[in-house]
Parts: sequence; C-alpha cells; structure tokens
Amino acid sequence: MASANNGIPATLIPGDGIGPEVTKATVEVLQALGSPFEWETHSAGMAGIEAAGDPLPAATLDSIRRTRLALKGPLTTPVGGGFRSVNVRLREEFKLYANLRPAKTIIPGRYENIDIVLVRENIEGLYVAHEHFIPVGADPRAVAVSTGVNTRDGCRRIARFAFEYAVKNGRKKITIVHKANVLKALTGIFLEAAREVAKEYEGRVEVDDRIVDACAMQLVLNPWQFDMLLCTNLFGDILSDELAGLVGGLGLAPGANIGEHGAIFEAVHGSAPDIAGKGVANPVSLLLAAGLMLDHVGKPELAVRLRTAIQATLLEDNVRTRDLGGSASTVEFTAALIKRLNASAA
Ligand code: NAI
Ligand code: MG
Repeated sequence: MASANNGIPATLIPGDGIGPEVTKATVEVLQALGSPFEWETHSAGMAGIEAAGDPLPAATLDSIRRTRLALKGPLTTPVGGGFRSVNVRLREEFKLYANLRPAKTIIPGRYENIDIVLVRENIEGLYVAHEHFIPVGADPRAVAVSTGVNTRDGCRRIARFAFEYAVKNGRKKITIVHKANVLKALTGIFLEAAREVAKEYEGRVEVDDRIVDACAMQLVLNPWQFDMLLCTNLFGDILSDELAGLVGGLGLAPGANIGEHGAIFEAVHGSAPDIAGKGVANPVSLLLAAGLMLDHVGKPELAVRLRTAIQATLLEDNVRTRDLGGSASTVEFTAALIKRLNASAA
C-alpha cells in the first residue's frame, strides 16, 4: 500500500501478556531511531479472540499477506485443550520454514563471549502436531499418539538456509543436531539431507553433528565449541531456550521466522503471564528482533546503531530490568535507551 512518507509497510501484532508492553517500547525506540517501518496494528492470540472472536483474525492475516513483514509480540496458547498454537499456524500459513535465533553475550554473566546462531526448521517435525488418542476400555484417552513429519525437501531447504547464512555472515561451522540413533527415520532423514547439502559448501563451512542430548550437555560445559546449530523443530525450540540461558535469559533472545511468503520477527520468550501488566518486562528481546528485521529489509546501519545503543544502556548506563538484576521498569529502560539513541544522533 502506498504511504504518505514512503515507509516500509509492516504489520505490528502487540500480542498477549507482556506483549503490549514490550511492543510499545519497541515502537517508541524504533521511532527515535528513525526506522523505516509504517505500522499496521492488528490483533492475534487471546487479544484476537477478545477483539475479533478469533485467535488469528482474517484482518491480521490479510495485513501480513500485503506487507509480508511483521513484528509480533508473544501470543498465549492454552496448554492441553483450547485452540491450536497461533504461532505454529502463522509459520505454516506463510511457510516460514526457517527460524533464526542468534544468541550473543551482551552482559557477561555465568558465561562470556557466547556467539552462537541457531537455525531451527520451523514447520515440520513433531510440531505438525498430528495427534490423537486411542480409547482402551472405558478410557477414551488411554493412549496418546503423535506423528512427526520431516520431508527430504524440507530438510534440504532448512540446511541450505543455514549454510547460505553461514557463508553470508562469515560463520565457520555448523553442527547438525539430531537423534538419529533412536528416531532413525524422523531425524535420520534430517541428518542425511543436511550432510548432503553440507558437501556443496565443503571448504567454506565446516560441518559436524551431535545427538541432541549430548549437545544440550556440551552447551553447558563448553558452549564456545559451537558456532551454528542446525536443528529440527522441537530440538531447536528446546535448545534455543538453553542458548537464551547462556546469554542471560529470555529477556535477551530474539528470533526471526523467515520464509517464501514473508518474515515475522519476535522474541524467543512467551507472554510471561507471571509479570504481565506489572511494567517490569524486559523489552530487549523484541528490540533485538526489530534489529533482525532492520537487517532483513536492508537497513543494517540502523540495526547496528540500535544494538550499540542497547549495549551502552545495559553496560555503560547500567540501566537494566529486574530479570537482569536491575530495578528499571520497562518504561525507564525504554527512556534510557531513547536518550542514548538521541545522544548518538546528535
Ligand atoms: P515465557 O517465556 O512467557 O516465560 C518464562 C519465564 O521467563 C517467566 O518467568 C517470565 O516472567 C520470564 N520472562 C519471559 N520473557 C521475559 C521478559 N521479556 N522480561 C522478563 N522476564 C521474562 O514462557 P511460558 O511461561 O512457558 O509461556 C507463557 C505463554 O507464552 C504460553 O501460553 C506459551 O504458549 C506462550 N509462548 C508464546 C511464544 C510466542 O508467541 N512466540 C513463545 C513461547 C511461549
Ligand atoms: Mg519455545
């Protein structure tokens, strides 16, 4: 859609729980940065049900179809019964097959100098959630069955994404994560396809592989041995939270969902119902996700300015939210960051 100041149209989904608090902070910071985005704000998740009676309203989908670009707050998904995960539906709808989750130390804590990029297959594996119950006797839900699906094409596609990313971003090594000793078909095909793709990059990107449980332990013992992790959907979900833990928690972990029909940027964390509405949420994950979005639309200089200002606010000004051991509220942190940006622009 044409716009008054020729900005880049993008969909904004504030989301649930702490979502509205951290998206508001992010939009304000982006404005101070002089970001190119022109927001179309739409609801989803519980907020979608309240506003439009649907966790994924048609207007929201239409907007993303137009803009092919979205910044999304976390969405609450009821555990057990209730609607299907809206995050998973969005990834499927727009074929967002690649989930990119970089973890980089900003504040040295338990670990220093962590710099690992996780690439997660985003629409296959056990997340297809083809599930059902089998009744036995009087119990209609006596046996639960879940079927995972990995296609050779899907595995090749995500492997190629990871290797291309490595080449473009000067990364050295990719570790393929699997459980091919037990899930020989489901994760065996992933390992096989990834090794096949790796051959095309021989001499440019090193490759090795790890069984997921050993990888989880190695990440705690010696995370510096890893450069990039290439994971199936569920393993990527689990290990990306572990990576967030290595760099100071979920308040500092961004993610990008990238595909053929668009890209959606979000924090790795969820809606954090335990702190929602209290004004203490850390907006840095979503801010860093906005940084990935700036990279994606070809504005790396703005992304660098944003990351530099975030780092200065956390490390030099020592303004931090509670999850990082500080006492700043979301609003106070945001104000400090905007002050930094204005100072760097002056
Ligand atoms: P969560 O990530 O929302 O929270 C886990 C813990 O981390 C909580 O103690 C929370 O207070 C803390 N935390 C998370 N983000 C924070 C932030 N920005 N600042 C400070 N502390 C933060 O995970 P949980 O509780 O398992 O999930 C809550 C809901 O979020 C569920 O409905 C889940 O389905 C949904 N979810 C949505 C995601 C998405 O939209 N992409 C991703 C993960 C979960
Ligand atoms: Mg997760």
